[in-house]
Amino acid sequence: QRHLISAADLTRDDAVLILDTAEEMSRVADRPIKKLPTLRGRTVVNLFFEDSTRTRISFEAAEKRLSADVINFSAKGSSVSKGESLKDTAQTLEAMGVDAVVIRHGASGAPYRLANSGWIDAAVINAGDGTHQHPTQALLDAFTMRRRLVGRDAGLGHDLAGKRVTIVGDVLHSRVARSNVDLLHTLGAEVTLVAPPTLLPVGIGTWPCEVSYDLDSTLPKSDAVMMLRVQRERMNAAFFPTEREYSRRYGLDGDRMAKMPEHAIVMHPGPMVRGMEITAQVADSERCTAIEQVANGVSIRMAVLYLLLGGNEPALTNTRTEEK
Ligand code: CP
Repeated sequence: QRHLISAADLTRDDAVLILDTAEEMSRVADRPIKKLPTLRGRTVVNLFFEDSTRTRISFEAAEKRLSADVINFSAKGSSVSKGESLKDTAQTLEAMGVDAVVIRHGASGAPYRLANSGWIDAAVINAGDGTHQHPTQALLDAFTMRRRLVGRDAGLGHDLAGKRVTIVGDVLHSRVARSNVDLLHTLGAEVTLVAPPTLLPVGIGTWPCEVSYDLDSTLPKSDAVMMLRVQRERMNAAFFPTEREYSRRYGLDGDRMAKMPEHAIVMHPGPMVRGMEITAQVADSERCTAIEQVANGVSIRMAVLYLLLGGNEPALTNTRTEEK
């Protein structure tokens, strides 16, 4: 069985293979016919129990570019609202004969449960679960960093050894931060998290990264600065930071961006809250890769689907998940 549940399951070679395959896939977009026949006759279900713009649309674009049959399922408007369980939903899909399930769910661990429950035979790809993991986001972020900081052709076969990445904001609720710390560590990058103490998780000392509370002193030492959204929907209202105080200490504006080295990039997984963690000036600047990250997400998701379902290359082994 082959799945992609967590960025922590990927070895360095797995990750570099995905990044290299994504470079190949990105060339499909440059062709007059932007499709490959690789997944013709295979069915992929996009099973979204939580809202999404970028991930849902880019998985669908990736599946269509690989000629898969695509079924989109959104919990809103489905029988989930009548109380149907994940198990019954999964078995309903299984009865229709699906080859892969792309799942986003509010509960951390839901994709792992689906992959290891025996409810379905399909490959499972985690498109974001609770505050736990978002592995394809980490892969598209690493792809964007490798292209920008190493080079499109020069990067092939290479990891991110020695690159300094700063991740800023609501780490506590961020599956993007967790996935990035895992994958960037595997790829040899040095990661620093900058966040208010109240927005760092318990046990942060065991993560393979540094922690700082001082954004201004970290910026000049960064090759990439990734801004995170404050996830109010996952917080008790009493713990909301005020927008003014938060952006004064942890927001990225033009003056702060000027402290970064000239080659350094600003990243954001989206959705952005302009005026909170990032100003419009920074979000719209040429140094901000947010839109590029979205485009790269299609190539990464094509690569993951190709390697899990259609490729002749070595599988994404998922050995670490099986060991748990
Ligand atoms: N980055 C990300 O996961 O965005 P969506 O929630 O829009 O999919």
